[in-house]
Amino acid sequence: MRADVITIFPDYLAPLDLSLIGQARRRGLLDLHVHDLRDFTHDRHRTVDDTPYGGGAGMVMKPEPWGEALDHVVSGHDGRPVLVVPGPGGAPFTQQMARELAGRNWLVFGCGRYEGIDERVYEDAARLADVRVVSLGDYVLNGGEVAVLAMIEAVMRLVPGVIGNAESLVEESHEGGLLEYPVYTKPARWRGRDVPEVLLSGDHGRIATWRHEQRLERTAARRPDLLHTASALTSTGFGELAVTVATPADLGELLTLTHACWLQEALGNHTLDIPAVHETLESLTTSLQGWQTYAVRSGGRLVASVRGRLVDDDWHIGRLMVAPDLQGRGLGRMLLEHIQRVAPAGATAYSLVTGAASDRNHRMYRKAGFRLVADPETPGIVHFVKRRR
Ligand code: ADE
Repeated sequence: MRADVITIFPDYLAPLDLSLIGQARRRGLLDLHVHDLRDFTHDRHRTVDDTPYGGGAGMVMKPEPWGEALDHVVSGHDGRPVLVVPGPGGAPFTQQMARELAGRNWLVFGCGRYEGIDERVYEDAARLADVRVVSLGDYVLNGGEVAVLAMIEAVMRLVPGVIGNAESLVEESHEGGLLEYPVYTKPARWRGRDVPEVLLSGDHGRIATWRHEQRLERTAARRPDLLHTASALTSTGFGELAVTVATPADLGELLTLTHACWLQEALGNHTLDIPAVHETLESLTTSLQGWQTYAVRSGGRLVASVRGRLVDDDWHIGRLMVAPDLQGRGLGRMLLEHIQRVAPAGATAYSLVTGAASDRNHRMYRKAGFRLVADPETPGIVHFVKRRR
């Protein structure tokens, strides 16, 4: 990975010589170049800013030094970099963006100061690079340097070889869209506080389930917004869709939706011998404990749901349902993706069952990479499985 940083404070980037990122540089995994923007000025005072056209407070970074600096950095090397310009008005920097950037081989960071950089710089830079304005969070820093330190660290630790134990990357906050579970080490009792018993049990299945529940609980308590994958679902044309972990308050509507959806299944498969048809409020209430159930709301109405449960290392997916009037528009497919994404770290496969005559479901599962497995024991029902990658 090559990274160039353009800044008026090159010394700010000195911490990139330390720790794992410093090691990555010494091992040739990160080829980092820090450039002083003032080297691209031509006046005695090495001026990089001027007053804003139209008036207003503060100073604006002049376009000429930026233009020259970017031409210098980008020309003379093959390829097209991503130009990341940190700023509070940018798109949020997320783990997903870190992953995307880690997949590129050349990143250029342009650190703004003052009130920002002349807008024409962004337009002009699009000739040379894929330009992205990126914010670290909803607060204002004095300049982009601190943000660049954070972004380079978040990106580089995803580059293969930078971190020794790749597994530690999988089970951490924001991977799989959830926060990390709580961790403990010796001693088992400290200041009267015990490590949760399940962690001492040696039962890996129970531990994986407990950790997954902890991730969900923490996420619900600290970052409920992460349990809403609304942004992933807005492309359906349904407007704002919110996916949340189902609670007892959802059960009345969920029961109605279940009956509506499985009545179709019962008719299509010529049988009433389907557990969902016989679901009651009581049985559904109990199911909330064993299953991780998700509810999708659109305009306040519960329109879809799905659930998952870890059995050994198999993530059982069930009750994938979409309100009859909204079927055939991609919502089921997206929920199927969602339930796979939130499977606990211990899951190595996904499995589900459906009616033998439910052709539409078969097509959707096949398209999603599931494979039909024969099970002569249960006539009328077919099993689909998929390895987790
Ligand atoms: N520069 C100033 N504020 C910033 C922020 N919140 N994120 C990224 N860069 C910034």
